Amino acid sequence: MRNIIIDCDPGHDDVIAIMVAMAHEEELNILGITTVAGNQTLDKVTNNILKVQTLLGTNIPVSKGYDCPIVKPLEVQPLAHGETGLDGPELPETDLKPTGLHAIEFMRRTLEEAKDKVTFVCIGPLTNMGLFLKTYPHLKDKIDCIAIMGGGIYNGNIQVKAEFNVYHDPEAAKLVFDSGVKVVMAGIEVCYSGSILLTETERAKDGGKASKLFYDIMQFYQGYAIRNGWDRTAIFDMTPIIWLLHPEYYVSEEREVHIELNGEYCRGMTVVDTRGYSGQMVNPKTVLVSVDREKFIEVLFDSLERLDKRFA
Ligand code: BDR
Ligand code: CA
Repeated sequence: MRNIIIDCDPGHDDVIAIMVAMAHEEELNILGITTVAGNQTLDKVTNNILKVQTLLGTNIPVSKGYDCPIVKPLEVQPLAHGETGLDGPELPETDLKPTGLHAIEFMRRTLEEAKDKVTFVCIGPLTNMGLFLKTYPHLKDKIDCIAIMGGGIYNGNIQVKAEFNVYHDPEAAKLVFDSGVKVVMAGIEVCYSGSILLTETERAKDGGKASKLFYDIMQFYQGYAIRNGWDRTAIFDMTPIIWLLHPEYYVSEEREVHIELNGEYCRGMTVVDTRGYSGQMVNPKTVLVSVDREKFIEVLFDSLERLDKRFA
């Protein structure tokens, strides 16, 4: 059993990732969810995950973190995630409240109290994680690894060479990547390799509560792919969660990765050293390259079925 904290900006794919984690209680013990501004403002993304929990009937503690990046101004993502950050599904009003602890205080307290090491799954901009490591470096030893959806080996999405989560707060990403803690990077290439076919989404149409939520989320989320004429879409944030469950489904490489903070065109790029030689690697990251798509997608649908039974 792995103890995890999910740091996120929900967000359509964030919610799906959290549902996959929830479905695997025997493997993943979710100690808490921490939120960060990214896909939408901090209040909106926090409210989204509280409402989702009300809909599902769960109550994992949620702690709010930073409401803007360390240096850049906040630039939210209405094109991908809508005005609410989770446009599409109809969500109930919620009485659930955040813990009242700042995300990095929740992380500190949880790690101080933990008997076993804790794994972080970071699927939003890295502001909380970076500032946690900078503020409480003595707690690094309590971290097993930081599994990140962010960056790319060759390309970006929000920019030619930069992926949204890293681009949004590159200074924070640098704090994480240079921290010395084991980092697993699920960049855009591995996420695209696990893309769901738009036709596959239909499998969830007549399912239970979790399937219905997934289906409604996808009706908005895959609009971007439809507008571009694509037959599939990446549910980015599921990738590090499913890696925790099934690392054997993935091809990965140990690579040095540097975060570009300057650069006229490349600020926010993860500069992955893909050269085939290697002298001594100083601080290699586990870079996920590709995933067995069919197996990856089966984990998703199996998770929804499990949750449908649990929440029936
Ligand atoms: C990442 O950016 C966000 O829009 C998604 O939630 C995901 O975390 C993909 O680049
Ligand atoms: Ca996200």
